[in-house]
Amino acid sequence: MADVPAPIDVTQTSEWHALQQHFEKIQSSGANLKSWFANDPQRVKKLSYDLSDLHFDLSKNLVSDETIKLLVALGKAVDLEGRRDAMFSGVHINTTEDRAVLHTALRRPASEAGSLIVDGQDAVADVHEVLDRMYAFANKVRSGEWKGVTGKKIENVVSIGIGGSDLGPVMVYEALKPYADAGINVRYVSNIDPNDMAEKVKGLDPETTLVIIVSKTFTTLETMTNAREAKAWLLEGLKSQGAIDGGDASVERAIKSHFVAVSTNLELVEQFGIDPQNAFGFWSWVGGRYSVDAAVGLSLIIAFGPEVFKDFLAGFHDLDTYFCETPLEQNVVALMGLLNVWYVNFYKAESHAVLPYDQYLHRFPAYLQQLTMESNGKSTRWDGTPVTCETGEIFWGEAGTNGQHAFYQLIHQGTRMIPADFIAFANTPNPTKDGEQDVHELFLGNFLAQTKALAFGKTADEVRAEGTAEWMVPARVFTGNRPTTSVFGEALTPHALGELIALYEHITFVEGTVWGLDSYDQWGVELGKQLAKQITPALHDDEALALQDESTKALIAYYRAHRK
Ligand code: F6P
Repeated sequence: MADVPAPIDVTQTSEWHALQQHFEKIQSSGANLKSWFANDPQRVKKLSYDLSDLHFDLSKNLVSDETIKLLVALGKAVDLEGRRDAMFSGVHINTTEDRAVLHTALRRPASEAGSLIVDGQDAVADVHEVLDRMYAFANKVRSGEWKGVTGKKIENVVSIGIGGSDLGPVMVYEALKPYADAGINVRYVSNIDPNDMAEKVKGLDPETTLVIIVSKTFTTLETMTNAREAKAWLLEGLKSQGAIDGGDASVERAIKSHFVAVSTNLELVEQFGIDPQNAFGFWSWVGGRYSVDAAVGLSLIIAFGPEVFKDFLAGFHDLDTYFCETPLEQNVVALMGLLNVWYVNFYKAESHAVLPYDQYLHRFPAYLQQLTMESNGKSTRWDGTPVTCETGEIFWGEAGTNGQHAFYQLIHQGTRMIPADFIAFANTPNPTKDGEQDVHELFLGNFLAQTKALAFGKTADEVRAEGTAEWMVPARVFTGNRPTTSVFGEALTPHALGELIALYEHITFVEGTVWGLDSYDQWGVELGKQLAKQITPALHDDEALALQDESTKALIAYYRAHRK
């Protein structure tokens, strides 16, 4: 806690009270999106923002000019700018782990080497040393210079990791698939469920497969179990194909040619048998869920090439720069974070939907779930004191238009308010026509229709005018006034994707700062891990079973009775 001031209790600030009064005024006056739009022809202009690749329309949020002013004041009251600068400069704002939080250093250009010395280490120079090694390695794999133990070119990569060592790479691999140009497929294994590994290695030839083990700690149960399984699969496969004789030397050669690792724990990597030259490190100041732009993205560099990855990093960096240099009043990144606070703490919204109208972003909501919920799902502040208001939202979503035919009913007509971010791009890499109809335009028509319906709804009179029987009118009314943010981009390029990820990283930071959270630890995942170790033997061992609670015992009894 040395350099970190205690969190300010936001609920005790005059800015919080002003927001509460303002909220009550909005509620009692009946002001809503329809009236705000009708009364202010400049509303869209005032609430639109542009970054290099992304355009933002915040006008369909439940805010007036006054709300924005008060939210910005709230940000200032908790010294948002001071904490942001502390984070970027390497202060140990991750207090419970006494660590700096420097994922933003991962995307600083090499020209900034020497400008960020953290704990005695030149962070930017270190980042670029690893990046250069990754680029060189990836180029070898892509060109075929890197060969499997029998001299064949690598055609498939199996990347093993979980949480931040999986969700980011999977999401980006899916998002940038049109950029995969080396004929190398990547499959991601995360679950300890043996079904995951079994399905992912199905049909692969060990001679042309490279396995990347991705684990910050190199101790995670799932990843290390899967890594050993992959080792066994690969060695048995090579042996049965007569590719290696199975002697120690051939096994060692096979592992060196087919296994590489990404980790902060290089000692354990070596113990696994991986050549330290084929290990790519990162640092304790990169949280797992903030690491897709660290060495954790190695599979992406292999699939897409260094140039794509450089563009991706530049997108992050541009957004970082914008976040740092734009006054809060015009800073769309800060405003989106503050808007979430507005909905969580004043409207009591419990969840937040993220709805990408781009099939390539179909894993984006899952990625955001770890980023946001592992960061801000907390009841204790960064100095160990309890939080003073609701924190964290449940982030969820699905690619449009699939969600429309599933859960949008609840967003449109349910009793809960669900603020939603709609994300779309003007261009698609797969333009198609259905007769005369441009299919992408049909898709975008849906993107636009949904936010319009949510904002402005449909009145009882409009429903009646359609000839609806009176008793059925209420069921067909749409109240509207349901908040959305539209994020529109020219195309889902590597640069735009970098901007989009950094956007949500910083939204998460803004919310965490207002709530006084250490958004960079994750103690809440530990108890389950500990108990799993203790319970697993009870599945077959009576002594361990006797130590369990009655419900767990009964479930294990069911297991024992049914396991064949
Ligand atoms: O589930 C907790 C967690 O520590 C995540 O924060 C992390 O991303 C994941 O496990 C994987 O950890 P590692 O990269 O060390 O294997």
